[in-house]
This record gives sequence, C-alpha cells and structure tokens, in this order.
Amino acid sequence: MKTINPIGIFDSGIGGLTIAHEVNKILPNEKIIYFGDTQHLPYGEKSPKKILYYCEKIIDFLLKKNCKCIIIACNSASSIAFQKLLKTISEECILCNVIDPVIKYIEFEESIKKIGVIGTKATINSNIYQTAINKLRKDINVYSLATPLLASLIEENNNSVLQNKIVEMYLANKNLNGIDSLILGCTHYPLIEPKIRSFYGQDFKIISAIDHIGL
Ligand code: DGL
Repeated sequence: MKTINPIGIFDSGIGGLTIAHEVNKILPNEKIIYFGDTQHLPYGEKSPKKILYYCEKIIDFLLKKNCKCIIIACNSASSIAFQKLLKTISEECILCNVIDPVIKYIEFEESIKKIGVIGTKATINSNIYQTAINKLRKDINVYSLATPLLASLIEENNNSVLQNKIVEMYLANKNLNGIDSLILGCTHYPLIEPKIRSFYGQDFKIISAIDHIGL
C-alpha cells in the first residue's frame, strides 16, 4: 500500500473524532477518511451481532476507499468486534483498536493500584479492560461502571445542568469509590473531560486512548 492511501477511522458518531484529531497531530501528512455511523448510534446499547455487522459494513466501505490502515475508534466496537474482524481483514490493511494503547500505557504505570473504567454497556459487559489489565498486572484492582446515557448526551451536545448532574451521579457511584485513576472507556468521553476532571481534581489520573494512540 502506498503512502498516499488514506487511514480510515470510524465510530458510531463524533466520539472517534477525538482519535482522528490525535492521529492528525501525530501524522499530519496522512489523509484521513472518517466515518461516523450516527444512523446506528448508540452502539453501546446494541447486541454484539449488530455491532459486528455495522463494523463489517463500514470496513468494506473503507477498504473500497483503499485505506491502508483502519482504526476502530470506538471502545464498544473494539471490545466486541476487533478480534473477529482481525481474522477477516485483508493483510494489506492494518486494523487497530482503541483499547490496546491504553493497556500498553497502564502496564508500566506502577502508581496505578485501583483503577476505574467507565464506558458503554457493551464495553463494560464485555469485561475487556479488566481481563486485559489483570492479564498483565494482577496487582491492579479494576472497578467498572456502565455509563450508558453519556455518549448520546455528548452526541447531542447537550450541555445542560441535567448533563452535569448525570455525570456527577455516575462518578459518585459507589463502584468507583476510592479509585486512584479512571479510564475513559468511550471515545466520546474526552469531550467532557473538564467535567470529569472537576469532579476528581487536578492531580487525579484520567486515562484515555487519545493520549496513547501512538503506542
Ligand atoms: N464512542 C463509542 C465508544 O467508544 C460509544 C458510543 C456509542 O454507544 O455508540 O464506545
């Protein structure tokens, strides 16, 4: 594949643009094709079968555009469909997900002992973060919480008092009590990072794929 071939990036909506933005910073000369599947948002509420089906269709589309690399910029799709898609995709195209870079970062972060993960129902129910983290770091306790309303609220750019209350309500959940760091396990969530940061304070470690996509 030639350098002029584009990089394909997709998500259920605008969340993956947070990844596209970082990729563009790291590789400013690359052409990016972005696909936001807003027709089927939220992926996090869909069955694994449907998520896989949507991903296959989008990947077909991106392959027809000659993408040399495709980034699944969605945690729900990465957790449900990545391994299956990897088996079917042509060798000429590199398929990436947004979970592996976060796991690579956590592996060597000795200070992390009690980590929280927030994400869609699909991501949290898949248990992908807990499984991957504990495979490498048995000393880390992982506390997961599904936050299903957030992606749609962010997608609607709903910046209301209600949205703030919902964010606070989720973060105050007892499942996340006493964590020393938090994974934003959905690519929409960096768009509300300031709200999450104001709940935990400046020194708290917030981890998201956007900071580690180059790993
Ligand atoms: N941005 C997607 C993710 O990272 C989720 C949004 C959705 O539920 O569609 O999981």
